[in-house]
Amino acid sequence: MASLEIDRERCARDGLCALECPLSLIDIDEAGYPVATAHLEASCIGCGHCVAVCAKGCLRIDGIDPDELPDAPRTPDVLPEALCAWMTGRRSVRNFSDRRVPRGLIETCLETARYAPSALNFQPVEWLVITDAAAIRTLAGLCADFFRAAGSSQRFIEPFDAGRETILRGAPCLVVVHADAAAPIPPATDCVIALTHFELAAHALGLGACWAGLVRRAVASHAPAREFLGLPQGHEMYGGLMVGFPRFALKRLPPRKPLSIVWR
Ligand SMILES: Cc1cc2nc3c(=O)[nH]c(=O)nc-3n(C[C@H](O)[C@H](O)[C@H](O)COP(=O)(O)O)c2cc1C
Ligand code: SF4
Ligand code: SF4
Repeated sequence: MASLEIDRERCARDGLCALECPLSLIDIDEAGYPVATAHLEASCIGCGHCVAVCAKGCLRIDGIDPDELPDAPRTPDVLPEALCAWMTGRRSVRNFSDRRVPRGLIETCLETARYAPSALNFQPVEWLVITDAAAIRTLAGLCADFFRAAGSSQRFIEPFDAGRETILRGAPCLVVVHADAAAPIPPATDCVIALTHFELAAHALGLGACWAGLVRRAVASHAPAREFLGLPQGHEMYGGLMVGFPRFALKRLPPRKPLSIVWR
């Protein structure tokens, strides 16, 4: 439910708010001022784009006040080519140094991921951050129990049982995304996007990360691992990342399949 308020004295009548609304919930009247369509109240997803685009700060939607929104970040010193090269240089890190990860760096990654897209702006993503090394070891052991009993993933279990931590790699931090599985919009994609943004932010801050797919599989099927995470009732884990400082860096780009593209 939302309503729209305009300060007509300050409005420049440039129509940007109407152009920007993803659901076309704002019309422009004959005098050039924005007005709510009949659908706005019921259909607004609270994305805030109409308020965020208004240079005059004269438009307000229920609960979204231009004076309370921070300025959009400007990053003039990031060259586009450098950013693409830097993203290409992201690798899965499975060897972590002993250096403790400062909580502030994790918080910066979380704050970055908070602005990831979500279907209909539903923002279903919730986070669990584990930095207790003993808890991470215990979870790895519970996952190993699951794979051992299931007779699968022997290539991880044999070295694990020989003393090599092949499940969570001795990472000093595990970040889990979870959400209410019964949410009106299935939350899996939003969770994966948010965790991807987290991973890129971690890479920017000099951290290394690796997706914890084995943990996700074990948590989905093995009650002790799921109970150990203690997610809220009805929530599912949609992804996990091991995070820490890399022990060393790769010197070359690994191979990739050639792109498979159809242009139309
Ligand atoms: C899985 C997914 C599906 C989406 N589908 C649409 C879509 O069909 N049309 C659209 O206009 N926006 C779509 N969006 C964009 C969201 O509405 C948008 O991310 C959200 O309103 C937050 O705005 P922001 O991305 O500017 O932060 C989608 C986003 C996600 C993650
Ligand atoms: S908050 Fe988003 S959906 Fe709602 S009116 Fe503004 S632009 Fe449209
Ligand atoms: S974006 Fe702001 S200034 Fe432009 S028409 Fe909308 S309310 Fe008026």
